[in-house]
Amino acid sequence: MSAYKLSFLITALLFTQIAFANEVITPLPVNPIYDKKKAAVGKILFFDPILSLDRSTSCNSCHDLAAGGADKKEVSIGIDGLKGNIQSPTVLNARYNFKQFWNGRAETLLEQANGPIHNPKEMGLNSLEVEKRINASHKYKTLFSNYHDGPISYLMILEAIVEFEKALVTPNSKFDRYLRGEIQLTELEYAGYQTFKTLGCITCHNGMNIGGNSFQKMGMIIPYIHKEDYPDLYSLTKKDYHKNVFKVPTLRNIALLAPYFHDASAKTLEEAVKIMSKLNLGYIISEQQIKELVAFLNTLTGETPEILD
Ligand code: HEC
Ligand code: HEC
Repeated sequence: MSAYKLSFLITALLFTQIAFANEVITPLPVNPIYDKKKAAVGKILFFDPILSLDRSTSCNSCHDLAAGGADKKEVSIGIDGLKGNIQSPTVLNARYNFKQFWNGRAETLLEQANGPIHNPKEMGLNSLEVEKRINASHKYKTLFSNYHDGPISYLMILEAIVEFEKALVTPNSKFDRYLRGEIQLTELEYAGYQTFKTLGCITCHNGMNIGGNSFQKMGMIIPYIHKEDYPDLYSLTKKDYHKNVFKVPTLRNIALLAPYFHDASAKTLEEAVKIMSKLNLGYIISEQQIKELVAFLNTLTGETPEILD
């Protein structure tokens, strides 16, 4: 082989490696690992209002699994019709977020699940009352007896919910299948993916959840309105530069998750994409670019998790 050919080959090899490294979005696992026995109990708990003070509200009330695992309302409504201060994020694929909540104040799903049960505006129960109710229930005694004998602790109740959440993975979206080389995108979808990369959306929305792995500012280039009661990073640190800094939301299943943003201010995906480009990247994008981006985002809807079948 001539030196010329060799150097060409090396360049080509390097180039493909660099190109591959740019595919910073990775597919979701097709068979996520979780404890099936615990998850089966967690599934029933997730839908059961027994975990709220007035038996009115379940996890599913604010994370409707028939509608993308989030809430159509601007802010969630808990027991006694009490309003929260932020839109509920989706529980689908939440296991792959680096932290939980908009400001990441829970490190794990287990820590997170404790939040809404105790929150006086959400479910409003203390752990002893939860234990009392579950242990008094013949149904739950029987369910837990599949893997546990004796009294059911609060921790075991949370663990069952967490195992169920670990099952809430939505594999085989059109885009994941494209990444695995199984299918092609349409011209418009492919153009959208390129636009997503060239504009720089991918600098914040990347990884397995296409988000969920860093804190970023809403209004990076053009400042966004700030309210004191937003659970942003500022609410934890009181540092001015943390105002409107949130965990980047996942874009998986985003077509199902309107309205958009922490304050539900964007009603459609078109609107969300336009605002994102302007406030976070400083671009006024064309109608064509909006169409492309939305077509790409529509390929991110995955299959219903097996456990919900
Ligand atoms: C009254 C409505 C409401 C109820 C009930 C509720 N949630 Fe939430 N959930 C929310 C809101 C609102 C947030 C975001 C709060 C924040 O970030 O400050 C949230 C956040 C979450 C998150 C974090 C997702 C992410 O991307 O950060 C998970 C996971 C979650 N909830 C699971 C549950 C589980 C499990 C239950 C039942 C034990 C539950 N929720 C009950 C409204 C609710
Ligand atoms: C600087 C980081 C950053 C960049 C760049 C960025 N985003 Fe975002 N994106 C965020 C953050 C942070 C949020 C949450 C904002 C909020 O809720 O107020 C978000 C929210 C969204 C949402 C709404 C998600 C939801 O569940 O409500 C969509 C859709 C979105 N981004 C798409 C895009 C697109 C398309 C681009 C490129 C044009 C882009 N983003 C560029 C950080 C970024």
